[in-house]
Amino acid sequence: MHYSLAVVLPVVLALLAGSAQGTSCNSTSLCPSAFPCCSEFGFCGKDAFCLGGCDPLASKSLDACKPSPVCEDATHTFANNNRILSNATFFDGNASEYDWVVNSGTIINTNSSGGELAMILTEANGGTRLSSTRYLHYGTVTARLKTGRWGGVITAFITMSDIRDEIDWEFPGAATTEAQTNYFWQGYIPTESNNGHTEKGLADTFSNYHDYTIDWQPKTLTFSIDGKVVRTINQADTVDKSGVSRYPNTPSRIQLSIWPAGLPGAPPGTVEWAGGMINWKDPDYLSTGHFYALVKSVTIKCGDKANRSGNVTAYKYGANATAETPAISFTNQTTLLNGAGPSLDSGLQFRGAMAAVAALMMAAYIL
Ligand SMILES: *[C@@H]1O[C@H](CO)[C@@H](O)[C@H](O)[C@H]1NC(C)=O
Ligand SMILES: *[C@@H]1O[C@H](CO)[C@@H](O)[C@H](O)[C@H]1NC(C)=O
Ligand SMILES: *[C@@H]1O[C@H](CO)[C@@H](O)[C@H](O)[C@H]1NC(C)=O
Ligand SMILES: *[C@@H]1O[C@H](CO)[C@@H](O)[C@H](O)[C@H]1NC(C)=O
Ligand SMILES: *[C@@H]1O[C@H](CO)[C@@H](O)[C@H](O)[C@H]1NC(C)=O
Ligand SMILES: *[C@@H]1O[C@H](CO)[C@@H](O)[C@H](O)[C@H]1NC(C)=O
Ligand SMILES: *[C@@H]1O[C@H](CO)[C@@H](O)[C@H](O)[C@H]1NC(C)=O
Ligand SMILES: *[C@@H]1O[C@H](CO)[C@@H](O)[C@H](O)[C@H]1NC(C)=O
Repeated sequence: MHYSLAVVLPVVLALLAGSAQGTSCNSTSLCPSAFPCCSEFGFCGKDAFCLGGCDPLASKSLDACKPSPVCEDATHTFANNNRILSNATFFDGNASEYDWVVNSGTIINTNSSGGELAMILTEANGGTRLSSTRYLHYGTVTARLKTGRWGGVITAFITMSDIRDEIDWEFPGAATTEAQTNYFWQGYIPTESNNGHTEKGLADTFSNYHDYTIDWQPKTLTFSIDGKVVRTINQADTVDKSGVSRYPNTPSRIQLSIWPAGLPGAPPGTVEWAGGMINWKDPDYLSTGHFYALVKSVTIKCGDKANRSGNVTAYKYGANATAETPAISFTNQTTLLNGAGPSLDSGLQFRGAMAAVAALMMAAYIL
């Protein structure tokens, strides 16, 4: 998935007009000292901008972003939503306090079958995206979920690093017997020929829970459904002619989402991929007032525990270890912003604008 900047940028620029903090950033145009952190959407700021999604390669310096909270083995279940912060804007970096933050949209709990997290999609508010507060740097993660079943609606379970290494499970709602896998290196498709697979013949993914697994190891990336391997990628096969390994290799957050792809203005290819335009008069939508996807559990097994020693709290970036491959090291530095909670400075209004921007960006996700 990539962001469709062509669709979103004009809106973003209008929202941010006149705001010094709205300076855009990328790896050739780094953030200034006053607003040192480059958010996942490519804008400079401080506080929450320095937490999950902060891009170290586009921020003022490699250590401008807060270190990324280290992986912990866990099984997250959803008897209730107490371990989820419903608005990521108010996260202070304490990964012991919350397992997940909501970046955009709305969650509820169905309270049935021992509790299920429901991610909500509405015409007025768009989709919903959650990110784990901890990062994974290799390891195995399994999401037990039920997808949407509506044309134009995408359910997704992915890993995403702060420099856009990405591993995806995606479920276009028009095809509830299929599941798609994808991976990206620093936002790029590593090799055209072996990206984007579709697994077919699943028992209906809306009515049935399945276990979708990403087994991400330094040398192999394996996708499984209900414990059965359906796809394997070898790191060695991703090395390009100049010797760069175009394989996901940086610490990543786990993200769960439901989002609208079949919208007016979305690129035709995206709409087609998503299974057409969303029908807001679908009986399911009319009866509940929303579309949704359900998550029963997320199980995480860290792959890097044997490599740690001492008091490790987080991952941090260093200068390239090899060509175009940042060195990742462990650190015992704090992951918390100074003090607790967001400071009531002039940034608050801007962060509100960014939440709106985040919602727009979700609406503009394209394949
Ligand atoms: C980086 O940002 C600068 C300033 O906004 C812009 O001129 C430049 O084209 C951007 N570079 C890339 C690679 O996007
Ligand atoms: C982080 O959260 C945990 C769990 O709620 C709490 O015990 C701890 O005091 C918090 N740490 C800080 C520095 O606020
Ligand atoms: C689940 O239970 C909570 C707490 O009782 C309640 O607030 C919420 O509305 C319930 N959710 C649904 C979908 O019924
Ligand atoms: C652990 O460290 C070794 C030696 O540096 C490295 O080859 C391996 O990829 C690391 N494993 C993980 C999971 O990070
Ligand atoms: C590890 O570091 C954290 C953060 O500085 C601190 O809260 C914790 O007490 C340390 N633990 C040990 C065992 O030193
Ligand atoms: C890593 O290498 C790439 C390509 O040579 C370069 O563009 C980038 O700035 C380097 N990053 C760091 C953090 O040194
Ligand atoms: C963090 O690591 C440094 C050096 O590796 C050590 O001197 C320091 O005591 C550690 N701090 C904590 C809180 O563990
Ligand atoms: C999160 O909080 C900010 C600041 O109050 C607010 O502007 C924004 O709308 C909230 N986002 C969501 C998704 O509720």
